[in-house]
Amino acid sequence: MKLIRTENYEAMSLEAGKIIVDKIRSNPSLTLGLATGSTPKGLYKYLIKEHQENGTSYKQVKSVNLDEYSGLQAHDPNSYHYFMRQNLFNHLDISEYETHIPNGAARDLEQECIRYEQLIQELGGVDLQILGIGQNGHIGFNEPGTPFSSRTHIVTLAENTREANSRFFNSLAEVPTHAITMGIASILDSREILLLVSGEKKAEALLKFMNGEISEDFPASALKHHQNVTVIADKDALKYI
Ligand code: F6R
Repeated sequence: MKLIRTENYEAMSLEAGKIIVDKIRSNPSLTLGLATGSTPKGLYKYLIKEHQENGTSYKQVKSVNLDEYSGLQAHDPNSYHYFMRQNLFNHLDISEYETHIPNGAARDLEQECIRYEQLIQELGGVDLQILGIGQNGHIGFNEPGTPFSSRTHIVTLAENTREANSRFFNSLAEVPTHAITMGIASILDSREILLLVSGEKKAEALLKFMNGEISEDFPASALKHHQNVTVIADKDALKYI
């Protein structure tokens, strides 16, 4: 595992952005695994700016997102579909047909999980997966206790995850109770993983990740089984390391 230390959030975003742009330049039809949340927002801003200034093209790039809330339509401002369009896709030349996100509004969610897992296989797997980490060590929406062998599945969100995400909703009651997420095994299939960690709030999780044992009680620890993980973390997140 490689650790890149950065001074702050902007520098973390820049480091991650430079790695991604280099990959796209050498493989223009890269399949990117993408995340939502606060952590990758700065990275997405960098990719947009870089695309506008240098013309790096995403015409052949494909993307798959980690997760989506269940019960929210794609046009719902709290859906991850909406987040990705606003924060990235609308500002790049990526084809909307090549951006994939689980459909949390599907009638048959079990079937949707199977479809999504097959889709990732059909795309030839993820070349580079971007991840954030939850304070409880979750990756995607894989909460503590999720088997490392899990594939795309429906999850019941942990209360602290719902609380953490309630900042985007009008009230906690509006935060969905369920979601679809790529499983831990699906994530580990990615050829390369970039884990971004920023801020003091994540310092304990990062400490546990770096120094703790590998256990299903701390989902991110599964990444230690992967051969090609780079952690990009800022000073505040690295407070205890
Ligand atoms: C988002 C995702 C989550 C977040 C994690 C951290 O698609 O999969 O695992 O990466 O909850 O969220 P932020 O970045 O908001 O702290």
